[in-house]
Amino acid sequence: MAASFPMNAWYAAAWDADVKQALLPRTICGKHVVMYRKSDRTIAALEDACWHRLVPLSKGRLEGDTLVCGYHGLKFNAQGRCTFMPSQETINPSACVRAYPAIERHRFVWLWMGDPALADPAKIPDMHWNDDPAWAGDGKTIHVKCNYRLVVDNLMDLTHESFVHSSSIGNDAVAEAPFDVSHGEKTATVTRWMKGIEAPPFWAKQLQASGAVDRWQIIHFEAPCTVNIDVGVAPTGTGAPEGDRSQGVNGFVLNTITPETETTCHYFWAFVRNYRLSEQRLTTEIREGVAGIFREDELILEAQQRAIDENPGRVFYNLNIDAGAMWARRAIDRMIAAEAPQQMQAAE
Ligand code: FES
Ligand SMILES: [Fe+2]
Repeated sequence: MAASFPMNAWYAAAWDADVKQALLPRTICGKHVVMYRKSDRTIAALEDACWHRLVPLSKGRLEGDTLVCGYHGLKFNAQGRCTFMPSQETINPSACVRAYPAIERHRFVWLWMGDPALADPAKIPDMHWNDDPAWAGDGKTIHVKCNYRLVVDNLMDLTHESFVHSSSIGNDAVAEAPFDVSHGEKTATVTRWMKGIEAPPFWAKQLQASGAVDRWQIIHFEAPCTVNIDVGVAPTGTGAPEGDRSQGVNGFVLNTITPETETTCHYFWAFVRNYRLSEQRLTTEIREGVAGIFREDELILEAQQRAIDENPGRVFYNLNIDAGAMWARRAIDRMIAAEAPQQMQAAE
């Protein structure tokens, strides 16, 4: 079966703070990788299998920026080249392990899993809100036992908030409000305005005011797996739908979902806001609140994946609400198709 993800893409592999001067193994797009931070603070990411006998290098140790295999002591530099072999003077020039291009940006460590010659840093998804001083917030990583596209589907249609998250961010207005969908070659956008509604509990608390609100959810997808959602509420009549959000509260739900295997993924998310920036207590409170909300998604998504596995012949049906997810899947499919000839050549 062909992979459900492209390899020529930057994937978030870790939060920046999670990569220390220590070995961090992680599977990204089916590839076992070991990451560590070098003495110059940049990141090394090597194939997690020793050239000699394939023992995972993550079971070895670091000697400065050099990775020492834990079995027979072969040493590899951060570029993956062997620099020492026990009991011999000459080093076989082919002795190297694959090094993955790695860049730290927007508080994440991004790895390029495909052809290194194509690894253009300009292609890293824009998640700048995550370290922009005009925004404050934090997030977490969830290991979800489902194909990453099920998480993308989940985020591209927020109708599910009315049913999955009714105690926090969901109410009937979400499922009832109409929405617009647009798309580009690698993008899809779903815009939903709920005007003159009662704010759901989470947003009523953020706004610190009562009365009718205009609520927005503008979902921006960037292929293959990044979904940044512009969310917020403003008191009805203060002009938010026309572009004046000054009386409202605005957040971004930042999501990037990295395939681990065909049926598991690393889901990195953050919630950032542009109000009460200096209140760390609020940052922690919102992070924990959103973590609870996303736990509700995780349970649904893992149950969905189990049902898919048990019913391999079954297809999905698409409703109007699935339009955003369908454009997202088409963009992913185009990226995969664009790699197909290359993969065939490699297999020859
Ligand atoms: S397996 Fe790594 S040195 Fe032998
Ligand atoms: Fe959800």
